[in-house]
Amino acid sequence: MNAIDRIRLDRIVELHEILDEDHKQILTLVDELIVPQTPRSTEELAMLLQELQNSLLGHFAREQSPGGFYDYVGACSSDHRRELRVLLNEHISMLSTIHTLTERALPFNGKVSSEAKALELHHGATDLSVRLFEHELKENTLVNRLVQFYQSDEQAIA
Ligand SMILES: [Fe+2]
Ligand SMILES: [Fe+2]
Repeated sequence: MNAIDRIRLDRIVELHEILDEDHKQILTLVDELIVPQTPRSTEELAMLLQELQNSLLGHFAREQSPGGFYDYVGACSSDHRRELRVLLNEHISMLSTIHTLTERALPFNGKVSSEAKALELHHGATDLSVRLFEHELKENTLVNRLVQFYQSDEQAIA
């Protein structure tokens, strides 16, 4: 591995560790949202959805920011750039879903009973949590693959 690759890989691992703190916080919020001890009211759901929306906006922006995690991964190879495009599209799609759910949770939005609305929001949040979990898994796998690739490259040279 040359010096530039070494620096790049160290930075990717470092950025991923920082982002992993976000991942833990997001998963805690998702757990709170979809695994309630008692059924949540639409007001509680609206608050939790809003909180999750803010966290996702911050997290995705950090991943995509210039000089951030996606930039460094994209610099490694064109294969990774293709995977990043998929991940970026997933960011857009998940932000759209959480926006819709948060709007839907507002008291004046829709004529269904609050029980039916709470159920609908709960289903929507559960579906989103699966997509989110799969998305974060892809990011972890991508980092692990990069680390393994560079380590095997280093062993081959040694
Ligand atoms: Fe992401
Ligand atoms: Fe992430």
